[in-house]
This record gives sequence, C-alpha cells and structure tokens, in this order.
Amino acid sequence: MTGVPAMVLTGVGAHLPAQVVTNDDLSEVMDTSDEWIRTRTGIRERRRAAPGETSLHLAVEASREALKATADGATDVDAVVLATMTPDRRCPATAPDVAAALGLGRVAAFDVAAICSGFVYAAATAQGLIAAGTARRVLVIGTEVMSEVLYPTDRNTAVIFGDGAGAVGVRAGPPDEPGAFGPFDLGADGEDSDLIRVDGGAGRAPLTPGRPVTRDDYLVMDGRAVYRRAIPTMAASSRAALARRGWAVDDVDAVIGHQANVRILDGLCHELGVDTARSVVNIDAVGNTSAASIPIAMAHAHERGAVAAGDKVLLTAFGGGLTWGSTTLTWPDLPIA
Ligand code: COA
Repeated sequence: MTGVPAMVLTGVGAHLPAQVVTNDDLSEVMDTSDEWIRTRTGIRERRRAAPGETSLHLAVEASREALKATADGATDVDAVVLATMTPDRRCPATAPDVAAALGLGRVAAFDVAAICSGFVYAAATAQGLIAAGTARRVLVIGTEVMSEVLYPTDRNTAVIFGDGAGAVGVRAGPPDEPGAFGPFDLGADGEDSDLIRVDGGAGRAPLTPGRPVTRDDYLVMDGRAVYRRAIPTMAASSRAALARRGWAVDDVDAVIGHQANVRILDGLCHELGVDTARSVVNIDAVGNTSAASIPIAMAHAHERGAVAAGDKVLLTAFGGGLTWGSTTLTWPDLPIA
C-alpha cells in the first residue's frame, strides 16, 4: 500500500445488559408516563446494568462480538481506544483492563472523554493512529453504565439514558476499499459546558473525607438547551464531513446519528434534506447510551439489514462538552455474527 492508509471497518458488535426498564417501570418511581416518554423522546425501554456489571464488562462482551464478526477473520489488535463517561475507576482508564480481559497483550490502550460524541472522537483518534503508522488494527469502543450517574428520581435524565456498549474493529487499508472511513469533522464549545455535567468527585466538588453524597455526584442536564443546539450543530458537522468526503447529501443511504431523542434524529434529517426512512433508529429499545450509542446503532443496523454492503453511511454525534463530530464510511460486506 502506498500513501497514507485509510481506516477500514472490519467488524461491529454490541452488548446490552439483561435488565429491561420500561417507561411504566419509571412511572412507578417518578412523575412521568409512558405516553410522555414515547412521544417526547421515542424511547420505549432501556437497559440497566446489574450491580457489579461495569463499563468494562459491557465493553469486553461488545468487543468479542466485533472481533468475532471481523470480515477478514483477523482478530489481532494493536491499540484499544475506549470512549466512556462512566469508567470503572477514576484512575486508571478502562481501556487497559479491556485489553487485558480480551488477552490482547501489551497493546496501546487508553480512554477518550467526549461524552455523547465520545465514540466519534475515539474513531477519529484511531484513524490518526492508523494514518501515522502507529497502529494497524484498532478496537474502538463506546461503553456506558449511565445508571451509575442518574439521580434515581430525576425525570429530566433518568427517562432518557440507558446502559450498553458497542465496539468496532478497524484496520489500515486503501481509501477506495469498502469500509473506508472519510475525514472527520470534530468540534467543541466549552462556553456551554454546564449544560450536561457531573461535578462531584472532581476539582469543582472535590472529595473530602466524610463528605456525604450530594446532587453534584449525579448527572445534571438542561435538556431543552441541549435540544436547541443539537440539530443545527449536527447538521453543520454532517455537511462538513460530507463535503470533505466529496459526497452530496443525496448520496447518503443511511444516517447513523447519536440516539439522543427521535425528534432530534428526525429534525436532523429535515435540516439536511434526507428522508427519515434513511435514519437508523434504535433509541426505542436502548435509550440514549451516550458514547455507546453510535456503535450500538451500527451493530443493530447491521443485524437488521438496515445497512448493506456498498451503502454510503453518515455518522454524526452531539453531546456534553459541548462536543460534536461526524464522519462518513462505505459499508463493507460484513458477515452477520
Ligand atoms: N415526564 C413528564 N413530563 C416531563 C418530563 C418527564 N420525564 N420531563 C419534562 N417534563 C415536562 C416539563 O416539566 C415541561 O412541563 P411544563 O410545560 O408544564 O413546564 C414539559 O414536560 C416540557 O418539558 P421540556 O423540557 O420542554 O421537554 P422537551 O420536549 O424539551 O423534552 C428532553 C425534554 C430532555 C427529552 C429533550 O429536551 C431532549 O431530548 N433534549 C436533548 C437531550 C440530549 O440530547 N441529551 C444528551 C446529548 S448527549
């Protein structure tokens, strides 16, 4: 291969915890209803990790699926890039534990923190490692146990978020090969960093011996303000990623957007001028799984045949930071695991 190698998709995988939490289950513990949640968000149910089931466990299972489904049968990996806002520990990162649990040996492994855009940032990082020749095969993971940071009766957040993990295998390859990713568009706006946050246990609300658990230890989100920013920002980022690939909006066969709210996904399609039938939607069954959202949606789209070999696919995410990111890929001919 001559020139800078592209990053090519080789496999996708997802893993969800077993426990299903329905909207009716939540209505029993907070002032909400199945009707409100379904119509305002598109969510019917989400999964919740069992006690002791952490981001590590979900990531390992999703990674096994992604490596099992590897199109070229190769499972060697020389770097693990993991996106999460709910790591197993504040220190160290979760990625080295995943690499060890998968028996990958002493490969590079580190976490990326870009909240709901985390997977897109992690994939862009993997593309950089591959382009620079630092790695040839990378496992890119998004994994979250959001239930750890949800205040149990906060209807602003508890109805939206769910737990789960998704993973993709990527390798160096020629840019015209099916599965090749295009350039990324990434951005952030720290002026609005307060819109989605967990302050507790870090510099702004440090731990002190004997300190009781407070509301600061849980996720706070100004949903309405986030909603207003999400659609125009994802649309602009999508257009930038498409322009860098040289694709027109009409070329796009499937949009895999961050599953934050079905109204946001539909609004994004309207803003871009894409038929909503081309939007991959699984939020009804998983909720918003933050960094895990896009790789889970990729795996579910593959399983359901919502994406086929040769399809031109747009990925786009938006979330806490604020952060956003988009990219493109052609869908490769992947076996169903
Ligand atoms: N159940 C019932 N009623 C609820 C509710 C719930 N879970 N949450 C809010 N409400 C009420 C509000 O109190 C408000 O009542 P009021 O009109 O009497 O004041 C009404 O419903 C509308 O609230 P609002 O916050 O405007 O709802 P919304 O349509 O904006 O939907 C979100 C709320 C959070 C679903 C929506 O804003 C959203 O999806 N935001 C983006 C979230 C996101 O993308 N986050 C992460 C990116 S990572």
